[in-house]
Amino acid sequence: ALRGSFAQKAQKPNQSSHHGLQLQASYKVAILGAAGGIGQPLALLIKMSPLVSALNLYDIANVKGVAADLSHCNTPSQVLDFTGASELGNCLKGVNVVVIPAGVPRKPGMTRDDLFNINANIVKTLVEAVADNCPDAFIHVISNPVNSTVPIAAEVLKQKGVYDPKKLFGVTTLDVVRANTFVAEKKNLKLIDVDVPVIGGHAGITILPLLSKTKPSVRFSDEELEQLTIRIQNAGTEVVEAKAGAGSATLSMAYAAARFVESSLRALDGDGDVYECSFVQSDLTDLPFFASRVKLGRKGIEAMIPSDLQGLSEYEEKALEALKPELKASIEKGIAFAQKQP
Ligand code: NAI
Repeated sequence: ALRGSFAQKAQKPNQSSHHGLQLQASYKVAILGAAGGIGQPLALLIKMSPLVSALNLYDIANVKGVAADLSHCNTPSQVLDFTGASELGNCLKGVNVVVIPAGVPRKPGMTRDDLFNINANIVKTLVEAVADNCPDAFIHVISNPVNSTVPIAAEVLKQKGVYDPKKLFGVTTLDVVRANTFVAEKKNLKLIDVDVPVIGGHAGITILPLLSKTKPSVRFSDEELEQLTIRIQNAGTEVVEAKAGAGSATLSMAYAAARFVESSLRALDGDGDVYECSFVQSDLTDLPFFASRVKLGRKGIEAMIPSDLQGLSEYEEKALEALKPELKASIEKGIAFAQKQP
């Protein structure tokens, strides 16, 4: 995932550095909501990327200290801080990848949909600024409910006349990360080898891990399938309850988001073999947005992988049909919100 991205290794005495062997740091990344629970560890992980030359951190408060602290790490990127609406435009100028973890997280008893009213407005405002300042950037939406905030972002970009569906992504990488971890634990597999595609959306039953398509191929009993699927769908709630009021997943989320950023940067840099699951505009089903594996390239999504939705198990077929009404409603809720705004 973060292969090759970890911090500079200590040099042996007398060893000179070999310029040209390192990946070229040349991309600009912005994090909106950078002082938050996800934003801070995410900023740290991105600061470690050899592909990043500038890391712009934006929040409505408390971002100066985060940037000052991170800027002392001797990795290539220059870290700058931006506070409040008046500095948002400058934060976004010339940026290649914008990551949006701004918003409120869940507390025990809340669903992701309960966050809608607050986070819908935050995402709308931030994406308007993205449209005005870096309309060509890849946009990674983390703020929940992703099933609605991504359609909101799409509407805002359309209203601004700069919507490119190949460059708007709902970040569902954490669902894949969790599925990989839980399957490896259950089946005693080496974690690094396990890859489970996760499709649908990013809330409750809309999260559908395709365990039948696990690599390497593994057999599950019906009971294991049911248990694993439910655990992956409720994994966020596991963390919300363990944190008991202090928020939702932040560290594993930052790890997952950093993987998605690194994949995007590798794609921008010309790597022709980059695949990630993401919640995107899609024609794979009758829903306008759907999470599935996509191939990433310099211009965003280069290809969808329709074969991923073929040959599903009976259990998965049923679950796919069952998730559609809920996902459809969440998408429509997002679109309606964005369309009724002036
Ligand atoms: P947090 O409350 O720790 O941090 C949020 C940050 O956003 C704060 O620093 C806050 O000042 C900032 N913020 C609020 N309004 C803003 C605005 N208008 N502009 C810029 N920044 C603003 O929350 P946390 O734990 O970092 O979660 C952030 C979001 O990520 C939540 O919506 C949460 O539900 C979502 N999330 C998504 C996941 C996914 O898999 N996609 C997983 C976990 C959380």
